[in-house]
Amino acid sequence: MQFFLDTANLREIETGLGWGMVDGVTTNPTLIAKEGKSYLPTVAEIARLVPGPVSGEVLATDLAGMLDEGRRLAGLAPNVVVKVPLTPVGLSAVRSFAAEKIRCNVTLCFSAAQALLAAKAGAAYVSPFVGRLDDVGESGMRLIGEIVEIYGNYPFDTQVLVASVRHPMHVVEAAALGADVATIPFKVLEQLYRHPLTDAGVERFLADWAATGRRFED
Ligand code: E4P
Repeated sequence: MQFFLDTANLREIETGLGWGMVDGVTTNPTLIAKEGKSYLPTVAEIARLVPGPVSGEVLATDLAGMLDEGRRLAGLAPNVVVKVPLTPVGLSAVRSFAAEKIRCNVTLCFSAAQALLAAKAGAAYVSPFVGRLDDVGESGMRLIGEIVEIYGNYPFDTQVLVASVRHPMHVVEAAALGADVATIPFKVLEQLYRHPLTDAGVERFLADWAATGRRFED
């Protein structure tokens, strides 16, 4: 399973890369706005920093605008993946991008039917938003299971990229279901490492050895 960082914060990306746990990055307009930076230059900067796929989202909602912005995003670096919303216009854009060998991440997917359309359009990734589904009383993980099952029935190349991750169990359950990628906020990546018994265990080992009064070399 690949881990992407769901952020536009360069410090978080550098830290995650340093931990050896970041295979790629996803951004969206909200995340870039939160950093208070300009749009295209931020995607370009992230793409320089990260060896793996970096998703940058189109802002336009019409076909010509999406195609123009998508081409400009893809032109920034070979690892940029164009993020397109799951709308009829968005999927038309994905078809054109696929013909131009521009990889797309179809975002804002909330149903198995939509995921099927994204795969048929030729998306490299589909992003089902598990947290936002949970928020409205639906099951994000049930959707991941459905999409993994449906994609398994056909030779689609589309990868299931679990998005809107809110806590470590989203990542663990998505892995159990066979999702290809989870895009993870930095806070959740940190939480994945933590277990109170690990901390207590380290403390106990050190205290027991310190009580002997001897050194590492002894
Ligand atoms: C990533 O591709 C999505 O844009 C992101 O995971 C959405 O997360 P949110 O629901 O926490 O805004």
